[in-house]
Amino acid sequence: MKTQACIIGAGPAGLLLGHLLRAEGIECVVLERKTGDYVLGRIRAGVLEKITVDLMNRLGLDGRMKEEGLPHDGFNLADGDRLIRIDMGDLVGEQVMVYGQTELTRDLMEACDERDLAVIYEAGDVALHDIESDAPYVTYSKDGSDHRIDADMIIGCDGFHGPSRKAIPDTVGKHFERVYPFGWLGILADVPPCNHELIYANHERGFALASMRSATRSRYYIDVPLTDKVENWSDDQVWDELAIRLGPEAAAHITRGPSIEKSIAPLRSYIFAPMRHGRLMLCGDSAHIVPPTGAKGLNLAASDVYYAADALIAFFRKQDNNAIVGYSDRALARVWKSERFSWSLTKLMHRFPEDGAFERAMQVAELDYIANSRAAQISIAENYVGLPV
Ligand code: APR
Ligand code: PHB
Repeated sequence: MKTQACIIGAGPAGLLLGHLLRAEGIECVVLERKTGDYVLGRIRAGVLEKITVDLMNRLGLDGRMKEEGLPHDGFNLADGDRLIRIDMGDLVGEQVMVYGQTELTRDLMEACDERDLAVIYEAGDVALHDIESDAPYVTYSKDGSDHRIDADMIIGCDGFHGPSRKAIPDTVGKHFERVYPFGWLGILADVPPCNHELIYANHERGFALASMRSATRSRYYIDVPLTDKVENWSDDQVWDELAIRLGPEAAAHITRGPSIEKSIAPLRSYIFAPMRHGRLMLCGDSAHIVPPTGAKGLNLAASDVYYAADALIAFFRKQDNNAIVGYSDRALARVWKSERFSWSLTKLMHRFPEDGAFERAMQVAELDYIANSRAAQISIAENYVGLPV
């Protein structure tokens, strides 16, 4: 098979890019190693930045998001019993959309047939070849046969564990990483949220986050040691811990109920550069990972896709190779700033085992500064809604 763009990975990055290219009449094929149900079963966050909302609107795939999404003008930081509201609407004139990223992936997936975006699911042993030439190709296996796709460009949207990043020679790629000494235990329950906005809490006992998927479905997190196991935590123990860490005001409004999902995820900051080598471009988690504190994962993938689509449309429509060459620097400029914000908010809102009284006092002082400084709140707000693309 010959195509113009071969996308590896049918997660939100791969599908978003595929739709943007097809909307411009660019031939593309998406290769996904798992089934669509598996992709939809992945646990994902629930906050969308403006760039993500705008891309879904550009594609005309934002109908359900407009109906079911919850626009939020603010979010809260809690330290003990103080709630510091970051009023994004007032501070920077922007908001975020609370809408399950799984639902966004579903919206993209369900539009593939009508939009003529070919996704090959259960494509095994995907391998990239000749990415430094102008005739790269991808091989894969399916239903017991081996296949080959010749493409002008290959875009790796295959997440942290996919083959694309690894196809870039070690002599070219640079890795930047921080692994955090704790994980997030998340619980999903069909109960109303304790607050109409998100609450990030830094309590003596640790971090907590109160989020939501709708007015009847809540999502909560607490940080736990990396050695902890989800089976150590009954639902009641999670609810008890949340009530303590979120503070008395939130605790008074927590509605308990049985978890429909409960799991522990590790936290990492990771960047790989460059995000292009030869005819291979990387988007999303294939190139970077953020701790979920800033809700940047999918939204960074969206800005990568925005830049990648811009470059690929120029390349295929105007034979402009410069856009492809400039992609990595353009995408990384926003990646680094979002990584900084996610790392900074993680440092502010979590207890690190190696921290002593001084570090804790610095957290208290920083939260007090934020509580009393409009300038500090503007800085947090502009990062949380998403820096301009
Ligand atoms: N061959 C084909 N597909 C692969 C391979 C492979 N060898 N390896 C991984 N994939 C697929 C995965 O099965 C997955 O569906 O690539 C896809 C990558 O999707 P995500 O991991 O969701 O990454 P991305 O699309 O970049 O999404 C970025 O969205 O919801 C957030 O937190 C999530 O940060 C993540 C963000
Ligand atoms: C979520 O709703 O799952 C969520 C929200 C905000 C975050 C992380 C996760 O920072």
